[in-house]
Amino acid sequence: MEPLTNFFKDRDINDILDVGTGKGGFIPVLQQIFPNGQITGIDPDNQSLKIAGKEFPQYTFMEMQAEKLLFEDNSFDVVSISMALHHLPKVKRGLTEMKRVVKKEGWIIVNELISNQLNEAQEVHKMYHHFRSQIDRMKGTYHRKSFTKEAILQLLKEADIPIQFFFEHKKKINLVEDESELEIRVRKMQEMLELIKGRKEYEKMKPEIEKFREKALKYGFQPATSLVVVGRKRDLV
Ligand SMILES: C[S@@+](CC[C@H](N)C(=O)[O-])C[C@H]1O[C@@H](n2cnc3c(N)ncnc32)[C@H](O)[C@@H]1O
Repeated sequence: MEPLTNFFKDRDINDILDVGTGKGGFIPVLQQIFPNGQITGIDPDNQSLKIAGKEFPQYTFMEMQAEKLLFEDNSFDVVSISMALHHLPKVKRGLTEMKRVVKKEGWIIVNELISNQLNEAQEVHKMYHHFRSQIDRMKGTYHRKSFTKEAILQLLKEADIPIQFFFEHKKKINLVEDESELEIRVRKMQEMLELIKGRKEYEKMKPEIEKFREKALKYGFQPATSLVVVGRKRDLV
């Protein structure tokens, strides 16, 4: 993410907190931006943290929720959250906690998929994501549909996080170039659907898998655009 690398190039950043780190999917990006940074990753999902810990043994991983960060005020130079905002049951609370633990004049980075201004191949990605998030919700796991770009900016405003700059990040790739990759996605959707077998939504959602396959073959499957926002904690906060 070049704009981030350029922006942080000459800044003295040591301690980074990655919220909703999961299996560490955003850590390679953070390593690129902050080659000398010490990273702490938090997530409520212990299984994912174990995988992250094996992949990145040099860093610290802790089981924790964004809404209740167990760190002192003003602890980190940078606090990031990637692809996890729509997983937080209390988004504003999570953002407020991130602001609390970042140092005064420190930085908050939000990287989040958006649901609007997408091309047809990205709409296929959204369809896949929303299918999965709907089943997660039915199974009792908090997982919203993705936010619009405007909604994300509004959330930061509501959490009183002044925005320094933002940009859109697109990956121009087709994740189902090879038909076997498409079959993996289709199988994943079928497996997820089986989790709600017996419910009335099962029959209703079943045709969506075929619809997904047709659209993916026609348009491809491109990751939805992500919005990257850099906010800064005011000295007075
Ligand atoms: C799609 S993953 C993103 C993982 C990683 N940040 C990335 O960019 O690849 C979303 C993560 O949010 C986590 N999550 C769910 N609820 C959370 C909460 N209340 N606080 C922090 N993370 C949460 C999930 O466990 C999951 O690991």
